[in-house]
Amino acid sequence: MSFIDETKIIDAHGIVKRYNEGSENELEILHGIDLTVRKGEFVSIVGQSGSGKSTLMNIIGLLDHATSGDYLLDGKDVSDLKDDELSRIRNKKIGFVFQTYNLIPRTSARSNVELPMMYARVPEKERRERAEMLLEMVGMQERMLHTPDELSGGQKQRVAIARSLVNHPSILLADEPTGALDSNTGRVIMNLFHELNERHGITIVLITHSNELAEETPRIVTISDGMIIGERKGSIYAA
Ligand SMILES: Nc1ncnc2c1ncn2[C@@H]1O[C@H](COP(=O)(O)OP(=O)(O)OP(=O)(O)O)[C@@H](O)[C@H]1O
Ligand SMILES: [Mg+2]
Repeated sequence: MSFIDETKIIDAHGIVKRYNEGSENELEILHGIDLTVRKGEFVSIVGQSGSGKSTLMNIIGLLDHATSGDYLLDGKDVSDLKDDELSRIRNKKIGFVFQTYNLIPRTSARSNVELPMMYARVPEKERRERAEMLLEMVGMQERMLHTPDELSGGQKQRVAIARSLVNHPSILLADEPTGALDSNTGRVIMNLFHELNERHGITIVLITHSNELAEETPRIVTISDGMIIGERKGSIYAA
């Protein structure tokens, strides 16, 4: 098991999300979420479709603003920052993995991985070396120059995972990363997450509606109707 530090990467309190505030369609989706994730943790957030998992992930990942609540990311208060500052922090601190991979078409796997480093102005040689190193780490060294449409779903997801790690993020947020994959390929991706967490100390939040996948993570947070309703250890970690 990986070493968990006391450092809080995510420290969110009373997160509320409302859509269409003030109009008659006003809808409160998150009703005051408290969530702390420490460095080195691998935690899953599990809940039914519509329970608010992606809404919460978008707020934690600085893709969306909470309506109210306090949020410290890596010790920095990000509750009231402007969009340009948020995107700068997001690019540096957060790695995203989505169900649909979100790779750039007609662009090689290696260039896809290099792209976030271009935004971060990493010099070309270093960019290439790091992209190749990460693609090797996820087992994609032989397909680096293939474009996404020449890759299987599992291979695309491995490229997306390599890309999520390029800027040494403090945390990896994965929203249903195996949702589009068959169970064997999903297994390969889950094994990769375990390896990244245990061997490389990467902090991971896995969002899933699968109890089965959640059970294999050390910590499970259950969300229902926009509230956290429970928390427990994954079955193989429970004493
Ligand atoms: N922009 C929006 N405006 C209004 N309601 C929204 C908006 N985005 C999401 N919702 C609503 O918020 C609720 C939670 O959605 P969310 O996408 O967070 O669920 P989820 O747990 O990720 O579900 P799934 O497992 O299907 O991905 C849903 O009822 C959804 O309809
Ligand atoms: Mg979702």
